[in-house]
Amino acid sequence: MSADRLRLDDHIAALEAPQGLKSVLTVIAATCAQISDVVAGGALVGALGASGQINVQDEEQKKLDVITDDMLTQALLACPAIAGVASEEKDQVEPASNPAGEYLALFDPLDGSSNIDINAPVGTIVSVLKSATPTPVEADFLQTGRHQVAAVYAVYGPQTMLVLTTGDGVKGFTLSNDGQWLLTHDDITISPDTKEFAINVSNQRHWAEPVQRYLDGVLQGAEGPRGKNFNMRWVAAMVADVHRILMRGGVFLYPWDKREPNKPGKLRLMYEGNPMALLVEQAGGKATTDGVQPILDVQPTQLHQRIPVALGSANEIDAFASA
Ligand code: F6P
Ligand code: MN
Repeated sequence: MSADRLRLDDHIAALEAPQGLKSVLTVIAATCAQISDVVAGGALVGALGASGQINVQDEEQKKLDVITDDMLTQALLACPAIAGVASEEKDQVEPASNPAGEYLALFDPLDGSSNIDINAPVGTIVSVLKSATPTPVEADFLQTGRHQVAAVYAVYGPQTMLVLTTGDGVKGFTLSNDGQWLLTHDDITISPDTKEFAINVSNQRHWAEPVQRYLDGVLQGAEGPRGKNFNMRWVAAMVADVHRILMRGGVFLYPWDKREPNKPGKLRLMYEGNPMALLVEQAGGKATTDGVQPILDVQPTQLHQRIPVALGSANEIDAFASA
């Protein structure tokens, strides 16, 4: 089965990229394979349930949030090419004390963690930036998404997959039973048109007018202004929703809403919005805050800042923008 498939290690070795970046990608992939094992172990390895702690986002941490954060943090800090890491689960950035460190890794170690106790998909998201210094502080991490040199996610679903871009298209690898990442999805592209959308409609009353108008049009189906019927999906794990869009098109919307007017959305720019936006753009889709402004051009001002997200099939994002 594996003999004729490209191994991720061989793909990384063949990249026209500095050795340091290759070693960072290798560590990310190896750690995601280990995380997949822990996630799959679930109750058998005592990995389900709450940790009893609250993170910097004011969210209750699951045990697996803490376990996977430790796994990624330890593995990356031990990689000599890493200058520092930042995580959804940690208040502050963590410098690595590697004298030759030249990359920063920013991650959501377990995206969609409310899914873990119900055995639904979860994932890991990682953004990789160059570091101007081997001793970075928070300001060194606050680069726009355009500066990313790689973006990766792993989705732990019926199959464990790792989806990767280094700025030259998007490839998907599936974890084999003997622990190897094998190329199964070459040159992933997002169809420009779609009849599928993803939004948490329970927040409808809190949305701004244009979002209300867009959804109204979509829900009227073939009889309404859009002239076609739509279908809805919501996995409640951004990784899994974006993965579906990379596989068969669609749009994913987490707009600003007025529940907490001073927070411009739910999702985090640095380790959710940016890496997913790079993957979506590299696959030919659009990734915006409002249908127009590219997420990758948002100048970050805070490590854990939030942004509204509208990404996916290009023509449907345009329809969202003009609603
Ligand atoms: O990381 C935040 C997140 O869990 C995303 O993965 C997901 O898309 C979203 O929140 C789910 O939000 P809600 O609780 O509104 O369904
Ligand atoms: Mn997340």
